[in-house]
Amino acid sequence: MEYFIDSADARAVADVCRSFPVAGVTTNPTILSRVGGDLRAVFTALRAAIGSERLLHFEPVSPDTEGILREADAVRALVGGRLAVKVPPTPDGLRAVPLLKDAGFAVTVTAVFSPQQAMLAAACGADYVAPYINRFDTVCGGGAELVRAAASLLAADGSRAKLLCASFRNIRQIEEVMEAGARAVTVTPETFCAMASHPMTDLALEAFRRDWQPIWGDSALDELLAPGGKDMKDMINKNS
Ligand code: E4P
Repeated sequence: MEYFIDSADARAVADVCRSFPVAGVTTNPTILSRVGGDLRAVFTALRAAIGSERLLHFEPVSPDTEGILREADAVRALVGGRLAVKVPPTPDGLRAVPLLKDAGFAVTVTAVFSPQQAMLAAACGADYVAPYINRFDTVCGGGAELVRAAASLLAADGSRAKLLCASFRNIRQIEEVMEAGARAVTVTPETFCAMASHPMTDLALEAFRRDWQPIWGDSALDELLAPGGKDMKDMINKNS
């Protein structure tokens, strides 16, 4: 499974990269508008936060193929490293897919809401296909079924395109698309922490602390095991 961070906040992105297995960052015009300001600085900070090996996704705003290619070149001239261009499954967007691939970009066909859009994207050579789960669930429900259908058609076709699911409001949606055949997901920085946490985990850690404390206090293994470290007998006597 590949995990992407759906954010343009470089500080939050760097923070997530410190702890979690991150394949890259996804942005779109709305996500960039939340950060605002000097886009050169925004892209440069994002690249610095993820390094040159992780994929930086961006979405040109031009509706025409030529404009999409121009914008992609402009981002590459500024930041370099591994880049993925997001294009919609429109005639101009699909026409851009093989051209962007030839130019050395990864390509994600985005804002996908049907298995047929996914199949067309894959046939054009897209690396990733991005269904918007919560937006689909909000309108008609069945985001996971959409992913299951697309995954099964892509697999039957022998396609190498990966379903990169986006737009989530809760962790259940993420687990459902993973079960349905997603190969990648993009989630907010806050969601990474939510995915890793569980109240039962907190209870287990609390119990470990409770049992340790009366015997070894606040000392950690490195202090207790170091030659010439804390004298255990003293500590045990002190605590009894
Ligand atoms: C990915 O980059 C998508 O554009 C994004 O996840 C959409 O999410 P939203 O429906 O929460 O705006």
